[in-house]
Amino acid sequence: MPESRLKKILAVFEGKKGALISILQRVQEEYGYLPQEVLSELAGFLKLPASHVYSVATFYAHFYLTRRGDHLVRVCQGTACHVRGARDILETAQHRLGIKTGQTTEDYEYSLERVACLGSCALAPIMVVDDTVYPQVTTKKVVEILSKDKDGGKKEEG
Ligand code: FES
Repeated sequence: MPESRLKKILAVFEGKKGALISILQRVQEEYGYLPQEVLSELAGFLKLPASHVYSVATFYAHFYLTRRGDHLVRVCQGTACHVRGARDILETAQHRLGIKTGQTTEDYEYSLERVACLGSCALAPIMVVDDTVYPQVTTKKVVEILSKDKDGGKKEEG
């Protein structure tokens, strides 16, 4: 039951003032994102205005207010990647997954994000799926990578 999961998290932080960000981090670890109803309950438990809890949750880019996909696809849009075709890479990923940047597929399999420089510019353009880095990707390779993942490791001809 969501409420008891939240209560367990809150018990750890009991009596600690100014722990809202840490609590939100724990909630996100527990649920994978910050569900709206949990944020409302949290505000109630902490006796804070719901608007304050929401404003903190939306201020930090690493908090997610919607459910994320099982796999996170990140496409670098830093300068080095940009000049080597990162825009096409991102468009291909969007097309292949059928979502826009920042969205999650309907089956919650993938979320797609654009990121700034990943610190490996010599390998540009770069796409990362979960913890796997794909260097010097091409649009063809993007389709292959996302097709392979989607088909559970099987690769089809064509
Ligand atoms: S710009 Fe993409 S890794 Fe640096």
